[in-house]
Amino acid sequence: SLPVENVQELASYKELNSVPDRYVRPELEFDVVCLDDSLKIPIIDFSKLNDDQQFANDELMNFRNACEEWGFFQLINHGVSEDLIEKMKDDIKEFFKLPLEKKNAYAQLPNSIEGYGQLFVVSEDQKLDWADMLLCRTLPLDQRNMRYWPAHPPSFRETLDQYSTGMQRVALVLFGLLAKNLDLEPEKVTDHFKNGAQAMRINYYPPAPQADKVLGISPHSDPNGLTLLLQVNEVHGLQIRRNGTWVPVEPIPGALTVNIGDIIEVMSNGTYKSIEHRVVINPKEERLSIAAFHSLTPDGIISPIPDLLKENDPNYITMSFKELNKRFLAQKLDGKSFLERNGVHGWIRGE
Ligand code: SIN
Ligand code: FE2
Repeated sequence: SLPVENVQELASYKELNSVPDRYVRPELEFDVVCLDDSLKIPIIDFSKLNDDQQFANDELMNFRNACEEWGFFQLINHGVSEDLIEKMKDDIKEFFKLPLEKKNAYAQLPNSIEGYGQLFVVSEDQKLDWADMLLCRTLPLDQRNMRYWPAHPPSFRETLDQYSTGMQRVALVLFGLLAKNLDLEPEKVTDHFKNGAQAMRINYYPPAPQADKVLGISPHSDPNGLTLLLQVNEVHGLQIRRNGTWVPVEPIPGALTVNIGDIIEVMSNGTYKSIEHRVVINPKEERLSIAAFHSLTPDGIISPIPDLLKENDPNYITMSFKELNKRFLAQKLDGKSFLERNGVHGWIRGE
């Protein structure tokens, strides 16, 4: 990424009445945001999914429907302790309250995506997202670079370590159930992820004047297996694309917002959907979130699971995880289409 201004700092200028041009997106006024309160992403009860008896089948059906029809759902009763979640929230809030020079101790270095800063800035004239982030690789353990793990607040590293374990545990159960719902052995999916990469993207979205003209994260789909998102301070912002409109995803206290990534869409040969989403900005309140991305090992290969191709043609070509990541990081976030644009004959469904 090219170096850009710190957005939290920018937002803190008292005399800031409008946002700089590089953040302004006039086209947003034509977007349709769905205000229908009944249109909400499904809620999945993790404790029922794992119950071997009466509820499991119904909840597995709900889960399958969520993955096929929505690509997003709220996961409740996920078993990660409330205590740990609260600690993680507190530590994240504390980190972003630090003065800029303290946060910059964890700044991205040239050519590194990890650390404090921004991603997907590839040209001097592109529009910028109204947010700062801290990216930490958390798994496998040998990929951890403590240089980017905040030592302030003092509990941060320990909390992030425990949070990483908790998210990995939930993700692996979900990966197994995704397989089960495709009539596959759980291992057909979990084997690809059990030693895979996990990274945490911790987001800070300051309030903005002209909030309706900026985006916190440009539209994109996630280039991973599953994302488990904690909406830290319960301020609205996340929206998903559905039937040509943007549907707000409300934060539910205690829930994780889970979404299917591109890799699972491909592995399922298109049965599960990786959905485009974005983040909008609140005019008055800051928003914080932490996204846990679950991916393959670095040498991973992305292709439809062979068992699913007995009666069906592959809807996707095979691509290495390295290649996918390279393409993803080399571009400006611009919807799901980056796969088509860069993929040439690759990722275009049905071609
Ligand atoms: C994302 O990472 O795509 C969204 C994160 C958020 O809701 O803040
Ligand atoms: Fe995302």
